Amino acid sequence: MAEKIKIFDTTLRDGEQVPGCQLNKEDKLIVAKALDNLGVDIIEAGFPISSPADFDSVKSIAEQTQHAIVCGLTRAIEKDIDVAAEAIKPAKRARIHTGIGTSDLHVFSKLRTTREDVLERAVAAVKYAKKYVEDVEFYAEDAGRTDNEFLARVVEEVIKVGATVINIPDTTGYCLPSHFGNKIKYLKENVTGVHKVDLSAHCHNDLGLATANAIAAVQNGATQVECTINGIGERAGNTSLEEVVMIIRQHEDLPYFTDINVQMLTEISHLVAHKMNMPVQANKAIVGSNAFAHSSGIHQDGVLKNRENYEIIDPLTVGASGSSIVLTARSGRHALNYRIDKIGVKLNKEQLEEVYQHFLVLADEISLVNDEDLKKLVADYVVTNIDS
Ligand code: KIV
Ligand code: ZN
Repeated sequence: MAEKIKIFDTTLRDGEQVPGCQLNKEDKLIVAKALDNLGVDIIEAGFPISSPADFDSVKSIAEQTQHAIVCGLTRAIEKDIDVAAEAIKPAKRARIHTGIGTSDLHVFSKLRTTREDVLERAVAAVKYAKKYVEDVEFYAEDAGRTDNEFLARVVEEVIKVGATVINIPDTTGYCLPSHFGNKIKYLKENVTGVHKVDLSAHCHNDLGLATANAIAAVQNGATQVECTINGIGERAGNTSLEEVVMIIRQHEDLPYFTDINVQMLTEISHLVAHKMNMPVQANKAIVGSNAFAHSSGIHQDGVLKNRENYEIIDPLTVGASGSSIVLTARSGRHALNYRIDKIGVKLNKEQLEEVYQHFLVLADEISLVNDEDLKKLVADYVVTNIDS
């Protein structure tokens, strides 16, 4: 039977940390509502102690979210936990997300302490958070570069004191998929009590591997993925929500599902790009403007014969407007005729050939030929009744 993978969205926390992406309370609420409608399981609404405005936004999201769990981030510090608990209190379902760095780099050169002290602080933070909420997620920051044996010790101890979810972040985006997948497998096999919790993959994209690492984690037993819309986040970003969801959906050989309403992916991508002032790269998987655009003659001919020749996703399923046939100097006669047909003109073979030769000259000059250019070409070189 297929297993549900929980989607933990951190667009409003890890995504919002990006310079220039900060949102005011109203916009945060708009994005949170869209995420709730999209069907995410958890909304990480912010880092309440970071500023009064963030506290306020998290509180409003907690008050207004209908379905998702609302989560607030903290460090392993009592004051952080007090403030987060207050902010998420109005939520129908609330979660505190607390944690500490566990890699030797973080232990020795960031926290400047010892492994034993980190272990104690981790346990104390989870115990403290449990005073406020049942649902406590623990993150082992830089778990990607943490020694597996020490990581397993920390994870086992925080589970003993009631952590309900264990987040394994590849904070610096260092891991390879095999490496990250094996880390999850190691925890599944070596931590007493691990079956009681969700293991969560929180991957960064410094080497372009965030999505691959998240999927490797799922294949090795992770049941929650942390991600952001459009993959926004610190530095090169986080795992992209739309990629993980569509990989799970498109691969029937993966025995998993999510509750995401994929029809809304394009719309929410546009919303986040617009609100956060962070345009989506044209070639971004699933939601980029070129994700379903075909411009070379060979591909266009294939798509016009059967969309599946060059597309593995029907664009309509993710709410995109459809496949597009883009006219450039690499386009062929089939594509040109298709687009001319779309503007309401029927050409015979000779006429098409005549227009095609002039089209190539124009396309070399202006790069992208649009409907207005086409109308003009046809009017100039073929006698028709077209309005030019
Ligand atoms: O990347 C990371 O380690 C984080 C934690 C705070 C969860 O964002
Ligand atoms: Zn992160």
